Amino acid sequence: MKKYEVLLFPLLILTLAVFGCSNKQESASSLAEDSGTGEPRWTIGMSQCNLGEPWRVQMNLDLKNAAEKHPEIKVIFKDAQNDALKQRAQIEEYVSAEVDLIIVSPKEAAPLTPPVAAAYDQGIPVIVLDRRVLNDKFTSFIGADNKNIGRAAGKWIVNQLGGKGKIVELKGLMTSTPGKDRHSGFISGIEGSELEIIFEADMKWLEPGARKEMESALARFDQIDLVYSHNDPGAHGAFLAAKAANREEDIIFIGIDALTHEGQIYVKQGILAASFEYPTGGREAIQMALDILNGKEVPKELTLKSRVFTKDNIDQGGEWLEEK
Ligand code: FRU
Repeated sequence: MKKYEVLLFPLLILTLAVFGCSNKQESASSLAEDSGTGEPRWTIGMSQCNLGEPWRVQMNLDLKNAAEKHPEIKVIFKDAQNDALKQRAQIEEYVSAEVDLIIVSPKEAAPLTPPVAAAYDQGIPVIVLDRRVLNDKFTSFIGADNKNIGRAAGKWIVNQLGGKGKIVELKGLMTSTPGKDRHSGFISGIEGSELEIIFEADMKWLEPGARKEMESALARFDQIDLVYSHNDPGAHGAFLAAKAANREEDIIFIGIDALTHEGQIYVKQGILAASFEYPTGGREAIQMALDILNGKEVPKELTLKSRVFTKDNIDQGGEWLEEK
């Protein structure tokens, strides 16, 4: 080999490597060719804000089960471990990896808005699941109507307590949209009644946080009629605090989520008087992802329906909430 040939050969390899792989269209079409051999045609990056709670584990399972029926897609999962900065980096990593679509269930609205918008601006479709971002730079949002759930919980409680009573409200993370909406909906649901919120605290969606806050509430108030918790783990944490103080019999506990293996069991056991369903949207997200990847029009927002489960209706599959 002549000297210039020795120099040119590695250069040729490098050129092929750079231009051969960095062209998105090219890599997408070579993947498409592979679809005949059973290889997935599209890669979806999913960023889950944390996997410390049963509801989020269920969401990932719903996504995985739905995706497994479609060999043309492959879903990569990342867990942000309840760290908004980590979640931001995950979305940026998916953009650099040139995934075909991103699904994100954001921890908090403000810090996740810019990376979602950046991915969307670069032409990557983004489905936002369950918790919202602050602008409309995403492809579609899927979730249940948290204001409506909060309002239905408020009305249910007014009815249950005969319009009067002392309430503890254990809120979900108030920098996330479901926390805000479950609170404002609740306030509108109890409007006009004589219900009094005597204690409210942000338990950040976490059972240990709810238990600690409830211990403070129990120490301060001799009479608590009902605990309205923004999720079932929070309601269960409050129940455990009341039980430790021997006061669980005097208090009614209400939660949100109604997973078959969590909230619905608490209702059957009589720990919760009611649990309002908050569907994960995992199955719907995969269906929507397929529609987007196949070039179909999708709605900007998909609102999922919700049911309330009580001991009286649980064996009949709960009762659907009125849509507003
Ligand atoms: C899980 C969770 C659920 C709740 C949802 C709201 O992280 O706290 O219990 O319904 O998030 O986004």
